[in-house]
Amino acid sequence: FITGIAGQDGSYLTELLLSKDYEVHGIIRWDSIFTTERIDHVYQDPHVNGIRLFLHYGDLTDSGNLEKLIHQIKPDEIYHLGAMSHVRVSFDMPEYTANTDALGTLRILEAIKNSDLPIKFYMAASSEMFGSSPPPQNEHTPFHPRSPYACAKVFSHDITRMYREAYNMFCVNGILYNHESPRRGATFVTKKITRAVARIKAGLDKKIYLGNLEAKRDWGFTPEYVEAMHVLLQQEKPDDFVVATGETHSVREFLEEAFQYAGLGDWKPYVEFDARYLRPAEVEVLVGDATKAKEKLNWQPKIKFKELVRVMLDADFRALGLTPPGEGDRILKEVFPNRWWKND
Ligand code: NAP
Ligand code: GDD
Repeated sequence: FITGIAGQDGSYLTELLLSKDYEVHGIIRWDSIFTTERIDHVYQDPHVNGIRLFLHYGDLTDSGNLEKLIHQIKPDEIYHLGAMSHVRVSFDMPEYTANTDALGTLRILEAIKNSDLPIKFYMAASSEMFGSSPPPQNEHTPFHPRSPYACAKVFSHDITRMYREAYNMFCVNGILYNHESPRRGATFVTKKITRAVARIKAGLDKKIYLGNLEAKRDWGFTPEYVEAMHVLLQQEKPDDFVVATGETHSVREFLEEAFQYAGLGDWKPYVEFDARYLRPAEVEVLVGDATKAKEKLNWQPKIKFKELVRVMLDADFRALGLTPPGEGDRILKEVFPNRWWKND
């Protein structure tokens, strides 16, 4: 059972679990337009027999709905990925963010506890929780959250651990650093840049407007991160893990790499500053120390910063009907000969 199934991570995780013969259920929010674009390629018509993907209407703010679904589905594993996941927006909607991202987790944990079923629970915790704690950060680094989003995630992280200790439930936190892909939402900085670079190349746009270029992030590749989520729920004993590449790069470096790869040269003539993209409090630098995941889960990322930029840009070129430079596609073929997800 996946919350946030139609999000970036949810879509890859669905493909991974289907490739492992799971029956997958997920909640989507009702909207007046279709919001399932990321999972349309794996959607299965419910009128056909033998399907393994089931979508239900639901919302993290509705405990009755969550209780009912968990009671009906009786899942073996819950991957709780649903969230208002945009840090900047959480400053505009702090109460909604807390209701969804903090209380939403509590609602699911209570539903699991009340079900008396041996359900394993994965909580999508975040490197944002470390905030201004100096890098590199690991499972022992104190949290110092710098946004309503991060505060809500700290609550979710702690309540997940608390249910594990108090009720002996199989609950784990994956403390994931930023992970990106061609399916990343277009308002997050990586996708905003790669999409804009492709549009500039195609002659559709002239400029991109950005905020703080000096912030540094530890950016990884989403398919590898959802593999970590799955492995985390297959441990013998529940435990929390940092999942990261261990490399950090600034937004400025991302710009340099993307414009160079696209053959546009210097990025400066194309980029303008817009203060609306600044945050009241910024997280300056995130670098994860994923030694524990390497040693205990045998998890190690293969795609790092430069490859990630290439993979994302090739996809954005293709989306506009442009011929991609092709290095990203070549890397994917070489590194993942048995790829289980659709290449966008
Ligand atoms: P995403 O693309 O924004 O997906 C979030 C999903 O949550 C969307 O499908 C969204 O539904 C759903 N959602 C939002 N509010 C909801 C509500 N009230 N009820 C039910 N569903 C709701 O985020 P992501 O990148 O896949 O991230 C997945 C999770 O990992 C999130 O919890 C995020 O905070 C966390 N995380 C992400 C990263 C990262 O770098 N990507 C790193 C650390 C942690 P709609 O499709 O209807 O909008
Ligand atoms: N979104 C955005 N838009 N960010 C910008 C922009 C812009 O125009 N210009 C500069 N930035 C900077 C932000 O200030 C931030 O320092 C950095 O780019 C990354 O911003 P995002 O891509 O929005 O990601 P995030 O790091 O704030 O949050 C993401 O990663 C977290 C894990 O660390 C989200 O996926 C969170 O849900 C996730 O928990």
